[in-house]
Amino acid sequence: MAKYIFYLLISIFMLSRSLRSKANDNDDRKEYIVYMGSLPDDVVYSPTANHISLLQGVLDQGSTVEKSLITSYRRSFNGFAAKLTDTERQRLAEVKGVVSIFPNRNFKVQTTRSWDFIGLHQKTERNPTVESDIIIGVLDTGIWPESDSFNDEGFGSPPKKWKGACIGGDKFKCNNKIIGARYYLSELSTVATARDFIGHGTHTASIAAGNNVKNVSFFGIAQGTARGAVPSARIAVYKVCEVVCSEINVLSGFDDAIADGVDIISVSLGGSVQGAYDADAITIGSFHGLSKGVLTINSAGNDGITAGTVSSPAPWTMTVAASSIDRHIVDKVVLGNGQILLGNSVNSFTLNGTSFPMIYGKDAGHHDCDIENSRNCLSTCINKTAVNGKILLCDLIPPASDALGGVFAAVGPRIGLNEISFVEPVPVAAVNFANYSAAQAYFNSTKNPRATILKSESITDSDAPHIPNFSSRGPNFITPDILKPDVTAPGIDILAAYSPVVSPSVLPTDQRRVKYNILSGTSMSCPHVAGAAAYVKTFHPNWSPSAIKSSLMTTAWVMNTNQSSDGEFGYGAGHIDPVKALDPGLVYETSKDDYIKFLCGIGFGSSRLRLITGDNSTCPKITNFEPKDLNYPTLAHEVVQTNGSFTVEFQRRVKNVGLPNANYKVKVNSNPRLDIEVVPGVLSFKSMNEEKSFNVTVKGEALPIRTMLSSSIVWSDSIHSVRSPVVIFNSLFTD
Ligand SMILES: *[C@@H]1O[C@H](CO)[C@@H](O)[C@H](O)[C@H]1NC(C)=O
Ligand SMILES: *[C@@H]1O[C@H](CO)[C@@H](O)[C@H](O)[C@H]1NC(C)=O
Ligand SMILES: *[C@@H]1O[C@H](CO)[C@@H](O)[C@H](O)[C@H]1NC(C)=O
Ligand SMILES: *[C@@H]1O[C@H](CO)[C@@H](O)[C@H](O)[C@H]1NC(C)=O
Ligand SMILES: *[C@@H]1O[C@H](CO)[C@@H](O)[C@H](O)[C@H]1NC(C)=O
Ligand SMILES: *[C@@H]1O[C@H](CO)[C@@H](O)[C@H](O)[C@H]1NC(C)=O
Ligand SMILES: *[C@@H]1O[C@H](CO)[C@@H](O)[C@H](O)[C@H]1NC(C)=O
Ligand SMILES: *[C@@H]1O[C@H](CO)[C@@H](O)[C@H](O)[C@H]1NC(C)=O
Ligand SMILES: *[C@@H]1O[C@H](CO)[C@@H](O)[C@H](O)[C@H]1NC(C)=O
Ligand SMILES: *[C@@H]1O[C@H](CO)[C@@H](O)[C@H](O)[C@H]1NC(C)=O
Repeated sequence: MAKYIFYLLISIFMLSRSLRSKANDNDDRKEYIVYMGSLPDDVVYSPTANHISLLQGVLDQGSTVEKSLITSYRRSFNGFAAKLTDTERQRLAEVKGVVSIFPNRNFKVQTTRSWDFIGLHQKTERNPTVESDIIIGVLDTGIWPESDSFNDEGFGSPPKKWKGACIGGDKFKCNNKIIGARYYLSELSTVATARDFIGHGTHTASIAAGNNVKNVSFFGIAQGTARGAVPSARIAVYKVCEVVCSEINVLSGFDDAIADGVDIISVSLGGSVQGAYDADAITIGSFHGLSKGVLTINSAGNDGITAGTVSSPAPWTMTVAASSIDRHIVDKVVLGNGQILLGNSVNSFTLNGTSFPMIYGKDAGHHDCDIENSRNCLSTCINKTAVNGKILLCDLIPPASDALGGVFAAVGPRIGLNEISFVEPVPVAAVNFANYSAAQAYFNSTKNPRATILKSESITDSDAPHIPNFSSRGPNFITPDILKPDVTAPGIDILAAYSPVVSPSVLPTDQRRVKYNILSGTSMSCPHVAGAAAYVKTFHPNWSPSAIKSSLMTTAWVMNTNQSSDGEFGYGAGHIDPVKALDPGLVYETSKDDYIKFLCGIGFGSSRLRLITGDNSTCPKITNFEPKDLNYPTLAHEVVQTNGSFTVEFQRRVKNVGLPNANYKVKVNSNPRLDIEVVPGVLSFKSMNEEKSFNVTVKGEALPIRTMLSSSIVWSDSIHSVRSPVVIFNSLFTD
């Protein structure tokens, strides 16, 4: 069973541990989501009554609807969740009106400086009146409503369009900032409250729409003003996760958020295995959002650097990778010989004393322990008495694991996740291998090796932004010709609001409690884009979800391929620039009709299609529509032949949202291995909202497998540049 957990890096170990301890069910019934498409227009249709009678018709003798039915979806789309045996599931699949039945999975959940880095400064032009009418729906682990980031001082009553409710549970009060709250229970979420006991949902909500809160920091580190993209916007909370997120609850969150009237949905969670487009809570929920004008932003996942790991493949969601900002948090190790090493750790501790004796893990292990486990400072192996007051050298530092809880201080390399500074429960410096060798060499060179670890500080990283290894990579494994991820945004070392009842390292041994914490992951980059999309919407309230998405994609910063492996499969169209996205010039509109053609083209028949769209649309007789021709702001194609030259043609159209009279000329950025032709090469618009079509033909010589080539086309008048990457690749999945 795939797990659906939030895309926060730090807590994966903790989460999998608590998951295992909760493994249950001796019953042969499994939880399924029964998806039934759009709600019928019929006013007398009662979804719940219908679900009950459907179930009654298929249940085995002796089982009851009460025991089987978990929840009904009935506000924004039709369906229910139920516990079913295999034969019941098979019977139900035959029932008219049932689009798909898929097993419930558990999903993973996945400041200050970041908005300035993006160019969205505190003094940037805003539209505060419109901004206060924008509602961001956050599907996450809940929220800490008393945080300063969600204080409602100066806020008026909720916008008129709001149809939601505050059902946050005992002692949970909404205000004019957090205007709605709902929670959903499951076997793994049993506390009836929208309050956040994990910290994740508080963090993501404040990144998107937290107030300006002056002079916050993590024990003095990363000090500054914490703020969201749209501090005047409202927040609606849908607590769909406790330790993990049941997919049943994620779908309930969408059902409610869309009906409540949110404008943007931010979802920093996902599964590690993607379901088909009509068998996945996020793709289904976001499709219904789209038809109501609601754009869903979803994190790409933290499963890089492997190819094809990006979750959220649907073209109607906006998928976000994570990248660095120019502020990086480090801590220094000062060796007795004066040498200074650099650690990637958030260390809030000040050691009292100039230096401390050093001890190697190998020499500090219990005698019955494997020597390798001692060298790697495995918690159960280290003799805590022997290392007391000493700086411990470890051949391996696990990411924010409680292995080091109880030791005095430690230095060592971290495998894999060396690009992130984790909040550590004790003074730790996670150094690179070269630095660790230097520490070892010094340790070996003297009888009384001594060292100290300094409190963390911020340094400037002039190479930013770059894509870290952990950020999930394309290509898209359901529809390779839709480039994913779509964009990248800050997701490393982000300071934002936190839950004051959880330790900042998420470790139970850590006694510290904070209001603001530093976290990393695509979970943190996702709400940056949700906030940016809301910001664009405040200037263009009537823009469609695809127009907002297109504006953020075509105006994105061009990333430096030298600093980010995998090119566009790491960062999509590039790094968001919300201020530039206000005036993109042209947008790629993707209408419901376009998605219908797309779904038919990938094999959805008319009947399956109609149940999703909820109207009487049919697939065209000849369904030769190819996914590469979906009117998407990026162009991608997987070439299958490896030995001959290839030619691929893309069809696109753009809508003029710049100036009434405009002439756009195309410019192709050269890649010697791609021959790109755009016809016509000039687009002349006479009026606003006028649409024009063009075709892009890309030719090249034989492409060996595991090759990716990229280039871009840019439409420009004298003011705007509308950039779309072009990506041609061959069999990246096979590695
Ligand atoms: C900021 O907060 C710190 C304590 O966290 C305090 O020492 C300092 O005086 C504050 N600075 C301002 C300008 O308020
Ligand atoms: C260092 O001393 C200060 C003040 O006495 C104390 O608050 C702090 O906990 C000490 N730090 C450590 C790591 O022992
Ligand atoms: C742990 O270290 C202390 C001090 O070096 C020593 O006295 C004790 O015997 C050690 N315990 C074990 C179980 O190795
Ligand atoms: C990222 O992954 C690549 C390939 O596995 C590896 O060579 C590189 O060292 C990794 N970078 C970091 C900073 O861990
Ligand atoms: C320690 O690592 C830094 C990069 O983080 C590097 O610039 C420096 O040269 C390294 N020092 C040693 C002694 O290897
Ligand atoms: C230091 O000594 C240990 C053995 O105690 C050895 O494994 C390690 O390679 C030495 N390190 C260096 C850098 O010489
Ligand atoms: C990337 O590296 C190549 C080769 O080292 C260099 O020629 C090119 O200028 C670099 N590109 C950027 C954008 O830095
Ligand atoms: C489709 O539905 C609309 C109203 O919803 C109706 O006017 C139209 O006749 C229907 N078309 C077909 C082919 O059934
Ligand atoms: C290309 O390879 C395929 C099999 O992989 C083969 O059938 C075909 O004849 C080859 N074409 C050329 C032009 O070599
Ligand atoms: C693009 O190509 C299609 C099919 O080849 C053709 O029908 C259409 O007219 C072309 N559009 C333009 C703008 O040239």
